[in-house]
Amino acid sequence: MSRSKRFAALRERPINQDTFVHEWPEVGLIVTDSPFDPEPSLRITNGRVVEMDGVARADMDLIDRFIADYALDLSVAEEAMATPPEAIARMLVDINVPRAEIVRLVGGCTAAKLVAIIRHLNVLEMMMGLAKMRVRRTPANQAHVTNWKEHPALLAADAAEAALRGFAENETTVRVARYAPLSALAILVGSQVGRGGVLTQCAVEEAVNLRLGFKGLTSYAETLSVYGTEGAFIDGDDTPWSKAFLASAYASRGVKIRFTSGTGSEALMGHSQGRSMLYLEARCLLVTRGAGSQGVQNGSISCVALPESLPGGVRIILAENLLASMLNLEVAAGNDALASHSDIRKTAKLMCQFIPGADFVHSGFSAVPRFPDNLFGGGCFDADEYDDYLVVQRDMQVDAGLHPIREEEAVAVRERAARAIQATFAALGFPAITDAEVQAATIAHDSGDMPDRDVAADLAAADGFLVGPRTVLDVIVALDEAGFTEVAERLLAMGRQRILGDYLQPAAILDADFRVRSGINDRNDYQGPGSGYRLQGERWQRVQDLPQAKPPADFVRQGQPLGVQLEAVGPAPKGRANEVVIAVGPAFGDALTETIGGLPHDEVLQQILTGIAEEGLTARIVRVHQSADLAFVGYAGAQLSGSGIAIGLQSRGTTVIHRSDLAPLNNLELFPQSPNLTLESYRHIGRNAARYAKGETVQPVPVRVDNWARLRLIVKTMLLHRREVEAIDPALPPTELAFDWEPEI
Ligand code: 5AD
Ligand code: CA
Repeated sequence: MSRSKRFAALRERPINQDTFVHEWPEVGLIVTDSPFDPEPSLRITNGRVVEMDGVARADMDLIDRFIADYALDLSVAEEAMATPPEAIARMLVDINVPRAEIVRLVGGCTAAKLVAIIRHLNVLEMMMGLAKMRVRRTPANQAHVTNWKEHPALLAADAAEAALRGFAENETTVRVARYAPLSALAILVGSQVGRGGVLTQCAVEEAVNLRLGFKGLTSYAETLSVYGTEGAFIDGDDTPWSKAFLASAYASRGVKIRFTSGTGSEALMGHSQGRSMLYLEARCLLVTRGAGSQGVQNGSISCVALPESLPGGVRIILAENLLASMLNLEVAAGNDALASHSDIRKTAKLMCQFIPGADFVHSGFSAVPRFPDNLFGGGCFDADEYDDYLVVQRDMQVDAGLHPIREEEAVAVRERAARAIQATFAALGFPAITDAEVQAATIAHDSGDMPDRDVAADLAAADGFLVGPRTVLDVIVALDEAGFTEVAERLLAMGRQRILGDYLQPAAILDADFRVRSGINDRNDYQGPGSGYRLQGERWQRVQDLPQAKPPADFVRQGQPLGVQLEAVGPAPKGRANEVVIAVGPAFGDALTETIGGLPHDEVLQQILTGIAEEGLTARIVRVHQSADLAFVGYAGAQLSGSGIAIGLQSRGTTVIHRSDLAPLNNLELFPQSPNLTLESYRHIGRNAARYAKGETVQPVPVRVDNWARLRLIVKTMLLHRREVEAIDPALPPTELAFDWEPEI
């Protein structure tokens, strides 16, 4: 076989480092509709489920039993199960059906029924469904804040910047488990420096996790994993009941909880029972609901590469998010773990949640560079991609929870956060954070920019803190005494919130004034055009305020005086043979004095005149007033030229060589890419025009082609052209210009 160079190039593309596999339902390698998935069914006798999705009560496993007893709203189950799945699918996209009506009905659906509804929905319809069904009206975002060195000053600085950028939740995890108390403390303090009210967590083993919560070092927990088969649960020494108990333990201390599930986990653990990933996820979601969790982190999460290796995987990940929201669960929608080598693919996938909006568009946007610092197994989107993300939000007028910030603001909060954790460490008697470490954390890109710490000493302090009596109250006192009064007050306000418990409401986050925004007081009321969350007003101003966006006036410099002036000497007469006319645009050398590439107009003229002179011809310069259109400028010049040859020259530098017998839009040579023209090109254009005038053969002027120039300079082009158009005088025939300069050849 001949090997194609095109295919060789394709093989090198990042997308071809991703893995793709055929379906194999027997082992759970199928995203939905496995031949081994059950058909929906529900039989209720005396207020008890006696059969669900084809399984009689006697044959139910732990999960079936939990769902049957706790997850289904039996008061609507009969109606729900009797409603055709297609009808419920249609309600999701029908703007006349309110969210609450769907939530009510879905409350009575079994897992197989939920999957049957999804069968009727394409990606676009599911996105519409998510826009309507997510719990909170206002979308938000969650950040991952970790670093390879587990450096507390860097954690605090990164958490502060993440909070400033708009994340409503910041979470960390650890490489070395014993670091947990220090890392939880660092992101708590850092986050509150960046913006009061940001919720934080430290994802670690449950016993430690609980203790961190009880100490007031964290305000949410998301580590409650659930699975769709008994086997997977047993592997984790858990049951739906133990998870429900754990959730209550957190909630009892005012810690917001959210379960975690997602397609692929059971197959990955070897416990799929041949069921499709979506069917098993539907079971997870019912368990989550049955356990009383207000929400879930799903969208495959750490398993994402597995569904994405299969046909329809990205569609089904969106289906997970949608099913959760239909069950009235807050959704942190995934887009957290590395899912693809391809930026195109990962961004295309992101759009499924980004465009409709989710309670949390990412359940962990890496607020640090993914390598080396994201300890959640890399990050799908990371800190080096903030600007891309912000531009896409601005492009689509979409609020995905972030907004642009200024470098000086970031540096200021980073330094303050690093100082605050420095003071906290000092007051609590932990190993000192030096000024040099504070400085490094303030400006660091990643942990490679940080000095190493004495790990053993830090860990000893961490151990002591975890088992000792000190809590967040000691941290608050320390911060206050060190002069960080505002930070201390914010930490205290977080503590107060834990007692109020308002952020245990569905989908709750806190705003900068510590006011809860949840599915109760910020209820998603999307019902088609004109309803629901709209990015507008002050928030839209903030989201669009990219530091790199400039006022239009900044694109065009004020005209500089020319070295050699152009002076009008009267109406331009028809000329003699053996001359070339240089016809310039209405603003040339006047309102505008340089080309788009920054070449001064007098120097451009000098080069053209030199080129013409090199071929032994003379030239005249005329100004065309009646049009700014290059074709017309060149055409008008050619009508005045004794040889019939003219060079048309717009102020921005775009050039044409025209002959009087050609139609205006026809020409001898056109140079549409003025940014790529050099003084040497203009000289060559002069020479060529003269050779056309002499009737000689001509080699077209070689010009560099840079197709990026148009997109780089389109705004400037538009603004320069506007100036040229402003200078038009439709009644004024061309004038002759004197240019007091002679070529030397
Ligand atoms: N199902 C259940 N739990 C998951 N986690 C990640 N992905 C899934 C999933 N698909 C849990 C893991 C990990 C944490 C980030 O979330 O236990 O520790
Ligand atoms: Ca998360």
